[in-house]
Amino acid sequence: MTLRIVVTGKYGQLTQSLQRLGRCDTQVVAVGRPELNLENPSSVRSVIEDARPDVIVSAAAYTAVDQAEENPELALAINVEGAAAVAKTALGLGVPIVHISTDYVFSGEKTLPYVETDVCDPISIYGSSKFQGEQLVAKITDNHVILRTSWIYSPFGSNFVKTMVRLAETNDVVRVVDDQYGCPSSANDIANAIVSIAAKLSAEKNSDLRGIFHLSGNNSATWADFAEVIFDCTRKLGVKSASVDRITTKDYPTLAKRPANSRLSNEKLHSVYGVYMPDWQKSIMIAVRAILHDKI
Ligand SMILES: NC(=O)c1ccc[n+]([C@@H]2O[C@H](COP(=O)([O-])OP(=O)(O)OC[C@H]3O[C@@H](n4cnc5c(N)ncnc54)[C@H](OP(=O)(O)O)[C@@H]3O)[C@@H](O)[C@H]2O)c1
Repeated sequence: MTLRIVVTGKYGQLTQSLQRLGRCDTQVVAVGRPELNLENPSSVRSVIEDARPDVIVSAAAYTAVDQAEENPELALAINVEGAAAVAKTALGLGVPIVHISTDYVFSGEKTLPYVETDVCDPISIYGSSKFQGEQLVAKITDNHVILRTSWIYSPFGSNFVKTMVRLAETNDVVRVVDDQYGCPSSANDIANAIVSIAAKLSAEKNSDLRGIFHLSGNNSATWADFAEVIFDCTRKLGVKSASVDRITTKDYPTLAKRPANSRLSNEKLHSVYGVYMPDWQKSIMIAVRAILHDKI
């Protein structure tokens, strides 16, 4: 039987990656603006109901980390009240929800990778809004997976890989922060993992499958390490590349604070679901090639 996944947000990185998996056992239906607008929670239920989900993936969010500092009300409305409306719909329909959250729920003070039971202590409005969203979703329905991921890249939308590829076209040296550690995650790898999770959730009532899970690319990096690997890819593909000037967070002020360490441990996901994420270094060439497809 085909599993019908309804995902919120029409043009997000994760949505587009889910839609392009092209699996014959899964149908992915994207719902979003203008019909479903998380700023208007009353628009959510009927649109999702009409899409007849077996599982709902709640991916849409206010994701502009710096802009959230200047628009806290909007970030909170979308990431908390909007997320709650999606969770209430899942409860009403009696279907599981996979709610996508972030590594930015953590402060970054831990030196080891974060596990699911670690205390959340966000240091930005975005992180705080996503944390409040998680808590409300979990309160509304037990039939949930809260999936925290990190540093998403893909050929779609805006992300670090696309920015580096663009900067390499016009710069020989790019300054990149080298004292924030995280796990780059391919949206395509996350999408594959979500399908495995959704299939199990839909088939089994087991409470072990529910709760918070971390899911990110295997291995960690600083943004500068990440950029080096991207530039290796552009070099191998024969287009203009760049080298990295490693700088500190202090040298690159941003509106929102970022955690110094937001590495996530995937161990729980691996042991409960048997899902194993590829090394991020192995997945990156696929994304860089797709970003550059008309130039190589
Ligand atoms: N990007 C990252 O590095 C990262 C890291 C950790 C966690 N996450 C989480 O992962 C999830 C997916 O991220 P992503 O990178 O795929 O996001 P994205 O590319 O930034 O896309 C955001 C999506 O949210 C939708 N959206 C925003 N405001 C909306 C509203 N008011 N009503 C309905 N839809 C709205 C957008 O709609 P349109 O299609 O209309 O533009 C878009 O589809 C998010 O929950 C995010 O918090 C992301």
